[in-house]
Amino acid sequence: MSSHFAIAIDGPAASGKSTLAKELAKKLGLVMVNSGAMYRAVTWKLLEDGVDLTNEDAIETALRAMDVSCGVDGLLSTVSIDGIDPGEALRSEEVNGKVSVVAAVAAVRDRLVGLQRNYLLSSDVVMEGRDIGTVVFPETPYKIYVDADESVRAQRRVAVGEVDSVADRDRDDSRRKTAPLKVADGAAILDTSNHTIESGLEAAIEILRSQGLQISGV
Ligand code: DC
Repeated sequence: MSSHFAIAIDGPAASGKSTLAKELAKKLGLVMVNSGAMYRAVTWKLLEDGVDLTNEDAIETALRAMDVSCGVDGLLSTVSIDGIDPGEALRSEEVNGKVSVVAAVAAVRDRLVGLQRNYLLSSDVVMEGRDIGTVVFPETPYKIYVDADESVRAQRRVAVGEVDSVADRDRDDSRRKTAPLKVADGAAILDTSNHTIESGLEAAIEILRSQGLQISGV
């Protein structure tokens, strides 16, 4: 049993969950784990290697040969594949377009969920993703489902110059059989459409307090 705790932040694409998780990590001194980066890194490597993404067996075979390594730099999680950190390539149009296909493969999820749980062996974490409160850490009492209007979410991607069909990804992430995006039991919903970063952070801290997290000095 780990003595560490996890705050689970789930929600659709561009809902503001990464920003919120980072702010919480800074404020509370926790490690922020971006689980989407792990799915993106595996997708990047499969694309690099020209693996046929319509063939689950081919994905599984390629995955078995991959060295997926997760760590921490400061308060932020890192991921590398076969010793390479894909960096900006994680957010390329190609990766955006294929990551939901790769994330629907059960073998990929099994492998990455194991790596995600490992973080709790050494740190308290705030982890963001799609299934953190439902699958990765279902027992944590600290769960927030972050949402925002679809038009606001699409606009956020455009504002950072990213080509990303958030509606398509959300549809695929919500409809897949394994660990679909949904509101976890016990999660509080936080709609960030009309929040600033600061007011969203304050709202999240109130939610976590109401869920029993002891927070002092903020
Ligand atoms: O959070 P993100 O947009 O970077 O995530 C990229 C994709 O990874 C997302 O469309 C679905 C997948 N993902 C997932 O299936 N489960 C997670 N816990 C995190 C991400």
